[in-house]
Amino acid sequence: MPPHPQDHAYEASITDPAKFWARQAQQLTWHNSPSTAFRKSTRKLKSGVSHDAWTWFPDGEISTTYNCIDRHVEAGNGETTAIIWDSPVSNSKEKISYAQLQKEVATLAGVLREEGVEKGDTVLVYMPMIPAALIGILASARLGAIHAVVFGGFSAASLAQRIEASGAKVILTASCGIEGAKGPQAYQPMVRGSIEQSSVKPSRVLIWQREMSLWDNVKKENGERDWRELVESAKSRGVQADNVPVKSSDGLYIIYTSGTTGLPKGVLREAGGHAVGLNLSVRYLFGIRGPGDVLFTASDIGWVVGHSYIIYAPLLAGATTVLFEGKPVGTPNADTFWRILEEYKVNSFFTAPTALRAIRKEDTKNEFFEKRGRNGGLKHLRALYLAGERSEPSIVTMYQELLSKHCAKNATVIDNWWSSESGSPMTGLALLPGTAHDFNDHTWHQPLAIKPGSAGKPSPGFDVRVVDDEGKEIKKGSMGNIVLGLPFAPTGFTTLWRDEERFYKSYLKRFDGKWIDTGDAGMIDEDGYVHVMSRADDIINVAAHRLSTGAIEQAITTHPAITEAACVGIPDPMKGHVPFAFIAISDAPADLLKDLNARIRESIGPIASLGGFIAAPGIIPKTRSGKTLRRTLREILENGSNGNFEKEPSFPSTIEDVSVVGKAKEAVKSYFETGEGKKIKAKL
Ligand code: COA
Repeated sequence: MPPHPQDHAYEASITDPAKFWARQAQQLTWHNSPSTAFRKSTRKLKSGVSHDAWTWFPDGEISTTYNCIDRHVEAGNGETTAIIWDSPVSNSKEKISYAQLQKEVATLAGVLREEGVEKGDTVLVYMPMIPAALIGILASARLGAIHAVVFGGFSAASLAQRIEASGAKVILTASCGIEGAKGPQAYQPMVRGSIEQSSVKPSRVLIWQREMSLWDNVKKENGERDWRELVESAKSRGVQADNVPVKSSDGLYIIYTSGTTGLPKGVLREAGGHAVGLNLSVRYLFGIRGPGDVLFTASDIGWVVGHSYIIYAPLLAGATTVLFEGKPVGTPNADTFWRILEEYKVNSFFTAPTALRAIRKEDTKNEFFEKRGRNGGLKHLRALYLAGERSEPSIVTMYQELLSKHCAKNATVIDNWWSSESGSPMTGLALLPGTAHDFNDHTWHQPLAIKPGSAGKPSPGFDVRVVDDEGKEIKKGSMGNIVLGLPFAPTGFTTLWRDEERFYKSYLKRFDGKWIDTGDAGMIDEDGYVHVMSRADDIINVAAHRLSTGAIEQAITTHPAITEAACVGIPDPMKGHVPFAFIAISDAPADLLKDLNARIRESIGPIASLGGFIAAPGIIPKTRSGKTLRRTLREILENGSNGNFEKEPSFPSTIEDVSVVGKAKEAVKSYFETGEGKKIKAKL
């Protein structure tokens, strides 16, 4: 393939990152302009180990919210719509202009300051998908506080863990979320329960009352306050707070992501690098240039995709973001996404393959899409972005055909690969590659050709390599560990919140500090496209959410009869994978699945529920050092789900007792040939 502008931009970002990113930094307004793009240093850990580290825009000072809001109002774009809220579950729609957003954010920031929030404090956000959530997040950032948003579907125990780990001073919450067709889910028991369980006690809880399910009895003595009352009072007194600039390396937010152990890892996002990297990616990859362009990201603000492409990136660009409260199906039907694309003339749409699978199940012939397409309703759409899990080629091909038929010229499906740690896509295909060097040049190039099954080419600044277990690069086309060279691109993290030791152990130690370990496996093909095949076995991808197998095992072993369990993913036609447990007991009590799922829901949340389990003694293989060989179990389960009961799984030579593999194979065979397993197999 001849080089494409995307290849040139990538080359420039890797050969001279300082020059490349210094130029991107100029696109933003700095309180103190950085004199250099990055500085390398060495960090010494308490354990005595030293490792290479890096800081983006070390002497820069910036306010992300000034760049997201005030800058656009000052440039005369106050009347541009910043947020469109569309909530079929509450029958509401609302448009908020940049000028209104500025007023609301400045007022709430004033309130938060009066309630004791200062620069550097942490504010935990546990909110549904309503405009107040975005205003709360932006108001915290306006004060230079660090927000930690927790997904509204997490249990009280998970929330307590995050309150404690983040040291939250204030919680922003609402009286309820609305969970698809299930209706309102009260947050009060979760929030009160979590504070009770946590040793850190936030001094204030601001509650956004939603009329469909009110927070009953706001207890002032517990620090609970009615959010809207505080805002009304502040408005009547003219109270507002200005943007507080922070050092580029100061935290903007913490996002918790599943770790190897049950304890989540607090990825710290730094202010300067985040703003610069996102500003590039939203234009370059997403083709969102500014006022008039509309980005719809159907994720949740609790996930990193929501942080980046519902909130910060479209606002940095001065464009319009669509905030959607609902589900791809059932609210009210599988046409919802396509209605939104048409109604708001969406240009770029981001979702997860799971959502498209759910839609395909309801609308097997894509009649909703076709109908709107035939009527010209989808012609503004330039690209469909897919991430969160591997997109199977069939779904990419199907949507590429639909886009080519009904959407903008050259409209394309863009599979992209990233993580909470990276903050923006590490790979993808650029929609506006011309802008990588010149932001005023909005020339549309034909994007690089897609390869269904591949997540595209590396994005600027992400030095993606594939290495063997010793960290040596391997030849193109061969499978290996996907790693990244240092420095990690500016949106990427540089540490974990208050846990440098764990940062080193989780990401750098495996390859002696030379590479960042992504935990994913895959290959780079001859044309430079990255194919991400599977995750290491401590994390599973369920409906585009990353779940920790260790945390699920911990919840399972709270059952008094179970001392040992191994959790792996079992293929699922809609969610990609769902959790599945191997349990080493001889007699499973009646209703064990129900009991285990109740435990998992309580300690993690409903999204981690088991799809099934196998209970038999001696079926969990281990290495001699005691590490559970989940990968071996996963292979046995996958082979079994395809009817390949005899196929030998891979396992290391360090396996403690090879006969366990045979027992696990037998158990899987009998599972799929009878009862629940037979039903599951029939659905695959
Ligand atoms: N609050 C409370 N509960 C929640 C919740 C929330 N925010 N989100 C999910 N849950 C609950 C669900 O109600 C369900 O509970 P149940 O087992 O009692 O029915 C459980 O968690 C599992 O939810 P989910 O995995 O979402 O499955 P589902 O069957 O309700 O919906 C899909 C299936 C495909 C529609 C849904 O998973 C989906 O929209 N996925 C796309 C995810 C996505 O876009 N991610 C973006 C990441 S980039």
